[in-house]
Amino acid sequence: MKILYADNYQSMSRKAANILSAQIILKSNSVLGLATGSTPLGIYRQLIDWYQKGDLDFCACHTVNLDEYVGLDPQNPQSYAWFMQSNLFRQINIDPANTHLPDGTQMDEMLECQRYNALIHRLGGVDLQLLGIGRNGHIGFNEPGTAFEKETHCVRLTESTIQANARFFPSLEQVPTRAYTMGMKAIMQARKILLAVSGAAKADILEASLFGPITPQVPASILQLHPDVTVVADQEALAVILHAHPDQIAGNPSC
Ligand code: F6R
Repeated sequence: MKILYADNYQSMSRKAANILSAQIILKSNSVLGLATGSTPLGIYRQLIDWYQKGDLDFCACHTVNLDEYVGLDPQNPQSYAWFMQSNLFRQINIDPANTHLPDGTQMDEMLECQRYNALIHRLGGVDLQLLGIGRNGHIGFNEPGTAFEKETHCVRLTESTIQANARFFPSLEQVPTRAYTMGMKAIMQARKILLAVSGAAKADILEASLFGPITPQVPASILQLHPDVTVVADQEALAVILHAHPDQIAGNPSC
């Protein structure tokens, strides 16, 4: 595992975008695993900027997103499909047919999970999976306690995740209570993983995930077992690691 230091959110975003862009340049038909949330916004802005400058070409890329709320259709501004359209897909030259998310309108859970797993297998698996991390260590919507063996599945969201996501909805009552998510098994099958982390609120859970015991209680801790993980985190998110394991961080200004 490589842990890369960045001064702040902007620099973290640029470093992570560099890694994604190297992947696209080296393999133009890459399958990129993508995430939503606040963390990747700066990365997506940077990728759009490089695309507009002619440095990146997405025409042969495929994308698979980690998750989607059950009950929201892609035209709903709170859906992850809408998020991806607005924050990335509409602003780059990716073929819409090559962009994939779980279908939030499919109420038959088993059918949808099977469809999404089969799709990922048909695409040949994920080349580079971009991840964020929740304050409780969740990855995708894999909340603490989720078995590591799962592929795509339907989850009931925890109260803390519903609260954290409420900022995107007009009211707490409108936050969906279920979601489809790629499971930790599917995520671990990605050839490369890029975990982007920003902010002091993530400092404790980042240290626990990367250096603590590997346990379903901290879903991100299983990343310790993946052969090719790069973590790009800003100074605030690295606060605990900088103190406890300073020699583990590449680009640490104090080394
Ligand atoms: C989103 C996702 C979530 C987020 C996590 C962190 O697709 O999979 O696991 O990565 O909740 O969210 P932010 O980046 O908003 O702190």
